[in-house]
Amino acid sequence: MELNQENEIMSLPRIGDKAPEFKAITTQGEINFPADYIGKWIILFSHPADFTPVCTSEFMTFAKREPEFTALNCQLVGLSIDGLYSHIAWLRTIKEKIEFKDMKNMEVAFPLIEDITMNIAKKYGMIQPGESSTKAVRAVFFIDPKGIVRALIYYPLSIGRNFDELKRALIAMQTTDAFSVATPADWQPGDDVIVPTAGSCGVAKNRMETKEAGVTCYDWFFCLKKLSLEKVNNLPKLK
Ligand code: BEZ
Repeated sequence: MELNQENEIMSLPRIGDKAPEFKAITTQGEINFPADYIGKWIILFSHPADFTPVCTSEFMTFAKREPEFTALNCQLVGLSIDGLYSHIAWLRTIKEKIEFKDMKNMEVAFPLIEDITMNIAKKYGMIQPGESSTKAVRAVFFIDPKGIVRALIYYPLSIGRNFDELKRALIAMQTTDAFSVATPADWQPGDDVIVPTAGSCGVAKNRMETKEAGVTCYDWFFCLKKLSLEKVNNLPKLK
């Protein structure tokens, strides 16, 4: 257990941990997290503060792209160390006044958590005092349908997130789960995937001799397999 300069407990859920539970007030009513979303993927993300420009551009982008995440059986949930009335006023201002790229009139329909006490932000290691002790950094937690943390991405306050990468990482996790494969560097849906080296090296070496359709082995530890875009677009669990 790690303590910060004020001797407060700092926790950071890790990959494979159960997502810490909490109840919260949001712009869409009360939520019981992650219980309310079991059976869905969740992207829980924090932003530093309402009424700030980078966060505004991110919320507009998340609002625009929410249907893409919904189609992937993924619920978006935002959080900042602001109160509910600040959240409501900020989201209304975004809808009524702000234009960014091709976006205007953007309505944020996913829940945005109020966390004035910082209790949730602290549970999720979103307060990183070297960056700010009063604002959450831009954390992204991918939580699977069983409530297990599967990936974390952290960005500093000054850098807006890459939404193509968030979506790519989500699809990659769903793909590796559904087909028991791994994805290589810069993988995009439709690219070849990696056949993991299962078991002992001796077993893996035998793979060089087996001629599985669509599998190419360059050495015992490096086998690629075709996985069509159609198969990735029709992931078994999403049907
Ligand atoms: C922003 O969202 O623009 C921002 C928030 C906190 C610090 C720096 C930038």
